[in-house]
Amino acid sequence: MFPINRNRRLRSSKVIRDLVSENKINLTDLIVPLFIKDGKNIKEEIESMPSYYRMSLDVIEKEVKFLYEIGLKSVLLFVKVSENLKDNKGLEAINPNGLMQRAIKTIKNSVPEMVVITDVALDPYSIYGHDGIVKNNKILNDSTNDVLSKMALSHAKSGADIIAPSDMMDGRIKKIRETLELNKFHETAIMSYSIKYASNFYGPFRDALNSKPNFGDKKTYQMDFRNRDEAFLEVKNDIEEGADIIMIKPGLPYLDIIRDIKENFSCPIAVYQVSGEYSMLKAAAEKGWLDEKKVIIEQLTAFKRAGASMIVSYHSIDIAKSL
Ligand code: PBG
Repeated sequence: MFPINRNRRLRSSKVIRDLVSENKINLTDLIVPLFIKDGKNIKEEIESMPSYYRMSLDVIEKEVKFLYEIGLKSVLLFVKVSENLKDNKGLEAINPNGLMQRAIKTIKNSVPEMVVITDVALDPYSIYGHDGIVKNNKILNDSTNDVLSKMALSHAKSGADIIAPSDMMDGRIKKIRETLELNKFHETAIMSYSIKYASNFYGPFRDALNSKPNFGDKKTYQMDFRNRDEAFLEVKNDIEEGADIIMIKPGLPYLDIIRDIKENFSCPIAVYQVSGEYSMLKAAAEKGWLDEKKVIIEQLTAFKRAGASMIVSYHSIDIAKSL
């Protein structure tokens, strides 16, 4: 009761504020997405993602050394597949000499301690830009899972630490876990994109990989953003099927869901601050309308406060430089 209780007492100096602060971003919580492209000496800016690049493997080799030195020790890999290698089967996705497989080996050779997380989904490999095999304009579930499990195995064989299926097919975690166990990859973890909404914030990412669906949309497999209860089902299934880490994506519009999962499950939670979130913030900063550094810290702290233990963010390097 006033004047006994004055909340301002603990806000009176920076040192006191730091003492009582409840959440903090650690560099060791951050995961850096990397876009990889075949070729030599390539570092090309993605038009809709200012200051973010596609890089060739020779550049990536140096980049991961740099990341590790500044304290960023986990990377999430995406490959931009040449158009002539795309099909409706995912053949290139399981090629032991594919770009992803070479990327994993290159990074593990360059910085063995770097945690390498790999995207598992067919969209970058698909002539239709969809996450699965297409038949009569439908995305097939079970035959997609067969390819995804082979893809995951091939990533594990190449040295991936964590497999991250982002496709949203039903039952894919079970299929992948069984395949990994059968082949003795007991220690390869699965970070499941369990709660992936059919979001309109993925646009710049699809530019980066040239992976936009060329018919329909992804609403028959990704979640409806009007729903909340369904998120519990997705997480429950994925944990039962063998997921080690649960991801929620996108970030900012779904802080409520992060909190829900934090309060109802005891698994580690990852949040993906997606490309559209990055680009919005960059665009406003470029116009001088927002203080970029401060807004990024505030945004990422909000993910921690909501309950995320790790954050995939295109701002990771900027954060590492400013902390
Ligand atoms: C595709 C995939 C997407 C993202 C990660 N994996 C896009 C999509 O589902 O169309 C989006 C990431 C981002 O926007 O940063 N499997």
